[in-house]
Amino acid sequence: KGIKIGYSEGYIQKEALNSYADKIDSIHRILHSQAEYGKMPLGWLDLPIKYDEKELERIKSTARKIKDSSQIFVSIGIGGSYLGSRAAVELLSADSTQILFAGNNMSGAYLQSVIDAIGDKDFSLCVISKSGTTLETALAFSVLKELLEKRYGKEEARTRIIAVTDRDEGSLRRMTEREGYESYEIPGNIGGRYSVLTPAALITMAAAGIDIDAILKGAGEAYRVYDNPRLGENACYQYSVLRNLLYGMGKGIEVLINYEPSMEYFGKWWQQLFGESEGKAGKGIFPATLQFTTDLHSMGQYLQEGSKNLFETIISVENPPADVSIPFCADDLDGLNYLKGKTLGYINKAAYEGAMKAHEEGGVPVISLQIPSLDEHSFGHLVYFMQKACAVSGYLSGINPFDQPGVEMYKKNIYKLLDS
Ligand code: PA5
Repeated sequence: KGIKIGYSEGYIQKEALNSYADKIDSIHRILHSQAEYGKMPLGWLDLPIKYDEKELERIKSTARKIKDSSQIFVSIGIGGSYLGSRAAVELLSADSTQILFAGNNMSGAYLQSVIDAIGDKDFSLCVISKSGTTLETALAFSVLKELLEKRYGKEEARTRIIAVTDRDEGSLRRMTEREGYESYEIPGNIGGRYSVLTPAALITMAAAGIDIDAILKGAGEAYRVYDNPRLGENACYQYSVLRNLLYGMGKGIEVLINYEPSMEYFGKWWQQLFGESEGKAGKGIFPATLQFTTDLHSMGQYLQEGSKNLFETIISVENPPADVSIPFCADDLDGLNYLKGKTLGYINKAAYEGAMKAHEEGGVPVISLQIPSLDEHSFGHLVYFMQKACAVSGYLSGINPFDQPGVEMYKKNIYKLLDS
């Protein structure tokens, strides 16, 4: 069980990988004991096996209420309070309430487009902010709350707002207490980008009709599979070490590649996870994402013949959720009859093999990660895999993978500028 990992053996010697076995063993022990003693914000580490069942039931009942009352659900948040739920919605959204996202930028044109999309449909809001003070989120919430109050009156509007924030701190918590919104807590020991499996993302997922039990089950499976200090048996730790080795070889850019367009926002979530965790102290791999085969026809040129300071991590899906066969055409004018009866999935796999070989030959090492399917279970498993790999990568490079002083700096500056 678990993710199948492969790598370009022409670039990385097996011995080099294996030489990290002791280091990984001690990082594993440090990580798990720090979590046990609450020393770092590691609440996410054993969350999938310790989930509060009562809270899960409350989330599901909130989602049922939303479905009954609203055609549109607006999820308002940014960064770690946005990308995880968007990744899940883009990948797994069922036929349910339509989800719109707001508060993830400062564009008036974007917010107006959300208001236009709501139109005269029934809607509810979920405002998500761990700090409870983030400007993008607060501004979008204030505009949409006014719309809600005008539409339904102050009393009913209150019942159509859900707040997800810190238990005690921040203006959103204060507003929530005063107005009596239904609220959920983002645990203090789980940072924004590690909060996908908390209400920060689970409420939006449940409102989108996604099976959150299956997501947590997949994450629980990953917890067990990667709770293994032996590097040779742990694909998650191997991924961390391979990245670290490639960085040491001057490969400072990692390009995460997906062959399924629905994974675009998973890529953006991954980018935040690794970028915000590792980009510190003048070092860190720069995480980028591309969609293949789309970007093979644009960025493929750079990958093949451009600067050799990058490596690729390719996610492939063994059994994609749907497929289409190529039809037979009597006159064969398009010359595609040689592919008759073959599926796009089959051809996508051939493209994967072909591009990987070409890029390896062009000087780009590849790490491959194969997941079995694109369902809730696999999503939960993959999220957990990446979170743990990211934490271990941070420990390997000697930085704290759980803080984000650079992001806080931007937040402080914008408040200062707007206040002067
Ligand atoms: O990972 C992080 O800490 C950040 O990206 C935050 O998630 C983002 O800035 C939003 O913060 P908040 O949830 O406090 O509104």
